[in-house]
Amino acid sequence: MKRPLAYVAGTGRGIPAKVMTNHDFAALGIETSHDWIVERTGIVERHIAEPGETTAHMSAEAARTAMQRAGVTAGELDAIVLSTATPDRLLPSTAVDLQAMLGATRAAAFDLSAACSGFLYGMTIGEGMIATGVAETVLVIGAEKMSSIVDWQDRATCVLFGDGAGAAILRRTKGSGNQQRGILSTFMRSDGTLAELLWRPGGGAKQPFCQDVLDERSFYVKMAGREVFKSAVRSMAEACDRALDGAKLTGNDIDILIPHQANVRIIEATAKHASIPMDKVYVNVDRYGNTSSASIPIALDELVEQGTVREGTTALLVAFGAGFTWASMVIRF
Ligand code: COA
Repeated sequence: MKRPLAYVAGTGRGIPAKVMTNHDFAALGIETSHDWIVERTGIVERHIAEPGETTAHMSAEAARTAMQRAGVTAGELDAIVLSTATPDRLLPSTAVDLQAMLGATRAAAFDLSAACSGFLYGMTIGEGMIATGVAETVLVIGAEKMSSIVDWQDRATCVLFGDGAGAAILRRTKGSGNQQRGILSTFMRSDGTLAELLWRPGGGAKQPFCQDVLDERSFYVKMAGREVFKSAVRSMAEACDRALDGAKLTGNDIDILIPHQANVRIIEATAKHASIPMDKVYVNVDRYGNTSSASIPIALDELVEQGTVREGTTALLVAFGAGFTWASMVIRF
């Protein structure tokens, strides 16, 4: 396929104001410590949405900034692809609520379920829609209210996650030549044989809500942390290789690595594998925790805002999450 076909015209983020530090777990009776969390994960604090602050609300804030930066009106959106593991309800999608909130009257809107890899899956779908002529302008969102699905009695998971949303506007690349800006390569994989290492066992169509689901707390996130850690390191390394190969680049050509923000040790291992020094790696997991599919677009938006990502910047984006799913992408801005 001839690339680039689509470029990032604007980014935005929607972050709840409320901050919860590692020290705040004591008040909830959770046996943990700031030192344990920082040493194992790099997380210092995370943002937590208030009850009325929904996945759609955070998405709308992110989307409005992205549209403004891209100079795009809601009426110009052809599609809204919203990645979330925390839809506001199960039917219909959170994306249609966002479509209504924005007044994006021409847009097809749907949710995408690929956990922490969902933003990169969404960007790949958006690029595909542009490539086939189905769309000129696509809003891609990663939005998560993880605080609503973590078990606040399980110290092994509740300390890890946070809430937030990030957005990007994808538009058709005009002109020709491989020096242009846009998506240079994409890669996606999944392995459903490992689904039960990071999952919500109950509360879906297989075992609808009932007293057992409530008693067993099986509608909350369950995770085998060590196994997830090992798979994340292995899969993110593979994903870096594949996106770099696809773009015919090496780690030396990358100005900035934007990894999924789950754990600083996973990020360091990924950077080392890709031969990218840590001063070219963006880390904000200390301030947000793991915001699942929102983590990469939030990071990207911060980088755009601070001027690190600007015209000409070549970025490698890489993610891993429940499924397992993993994905990567090289973008020239
Ligand atoms: N505070 C204090 N102690 C805790 C704790 C917490 N919040 N959570 C777990 N522990 C304890 C465990 O109970 C265990 O105690 P034990 O040895 O007495 O049984 C001990 O710490 C070690 O637990 P373990 O799960 O083996 O720790 P770990 O070194 O693997 O670190 C994670 C745990 C979750 C930080 C780590 O496995 C991890 O980061 N995994 C990947 C998670 C992730 O990124 N998931 C999302 C991917 S998108």
